[in-house]
Amino acid sequence: MMKYRNLTLAAAVALGAATAQGHEIRLCVFPHSPTRAVDTAVARAVFDHLALPYRVVDLDGTIGNGALPQAKLVKLLANKCDVFAGVPTADDAQHASPLRSSRAYASADFVEFGLPGVAADGTVAVAYRTPAQLIAAEAKVPNFDVENTPAAVIDAVVDHRATRGIAWYPSLLAYQQEHAGTRFTVTPVHSRLSHWDLHFVAAPRQGALLERVSRALGALQRSGRLQRLNAPLAPHRTSWQVGAVATSADAPNPAQRGWKIVRVSATPTAQFAADQVGPGRKVYAAECAKCHGDKMQGRTAPALVGPGFAPSSNSTMTVGGIYQYVTTNMPADKPGLLKPVQYVDVMAFLLRANGYAPSGKPMTAQAAGNDSSQFDSFVK
Ligand code: HEC
Repeated sequence: MMKYRNLTLAAAVALGAATAQGHEIRLCVFPHSPTRAVDTAVARAVFDHLALPYRVVDLDGTIGNGALPQAKLVKLLANKCDVFAGVPTADDAQHASPLRSSRAYASADFVEFGLPGVAADGTVAVAYRTPAQLIAAEAKVPNFDVENTPAAVIDAVVDHRATRGIAWYPSLLAYQQEHAGTRFTVTPVHSRLSHWDLHFVAAPRQGALLERVSRALGALQRSGRLQRLNAPLAPHRTSWQVGAVATSADAPNPAQRGWKIVRVSATPTAQFAADQVGPGRKVYAAECAKCHGDKMQGRTAPALVGPGFAPSSNSTMTVGGIYQYVTTNMPADKPGLLKPVQYVDVMAFLLRANGYAPSGKPMTAQAAGNDSSQFDSFVK
């Protein structure tokens, strides 16, 4: 009885605290995320446990189904949402972020997948500008095919254009749900970039709330309830978990993770020589300008300079990633058909135009393809 009364008291105090703030807790989730059902169910369990009133903010129409830049998340958490559920965060990304996050409530890793019975010896499909592309670049996968979207990666495997893909596990689950006949075989990716967790995230001023959310998650986990709630996301987790978990000791550059920090460097340099830039400019004028604009400002195709191209705060691009993309997909009217030297020169020009100084060591096709340094535009 005593226990019951304490609980009610705790609930009443909590309720008072929330209403004293003048509103219910505004909970946001990504409207198009394949983890949405789990995010919402976990949030409901957490707020019920804390006896806190909340409502789910409708973000449909506010955010699309692509990646959400951190700056936008920060803004939503300043204006529309008190707390955001379903934010995938890499192990060590937190300390570098202007946001705070709760303890994790589910795993959501990048995995390798294929169709049953198809040998894994051909091309690996990955999506451009995603952790999957970085994973493949780091693993030095011999043949990889860079697709424009994660959905296109799944299609490439389903259509047998690639024998394997690297994708976010929840996306694969969502695809299987929508296509009842399709079953993927899934294997762990042994990479520092593959292990992601789902968290609640909020602005620093909501630190106390996040603290309580974390404690509620702990209680739900001890009772086994959390595992039942997040089971839909990780049915195979126990079998492929072994070895797949990154340790913080080998954590990569946090700037290459999904939620980013701003990297400031006075004089960024990259591997290319000054005398590659002139020829690169000519290649650009002849082969690229008609779509990307004379000044790379964007025309029928996106801009190739400035924050719209490679925002310094949340770029997921590497020099090698862009080089691979350009050599396989560009010029869009004759993809892959330029000479290797033309691709190398135009890449040197692209780096120069985005504010990089030449290191002096000439760029080669091989060095460019393997260059895993982050590509940020230093042009405002
Ligand atoms: C016929 C038009 C056309 C030509 C010519 C062309 N591109 Fe593109 N390029 C595109 C389009 C369209 C996209 C966007 C593709 C998409 O998002 O699906 C693109 C995308 C890109 C991107 C990725 C942009 C981003 O925001 O991530 C790069 C880099 C690029 N092109 C470089 C080049 C280079 C270098 C050349 C010349 C060697 C070139 N392109 C020639 C049409 C063209």
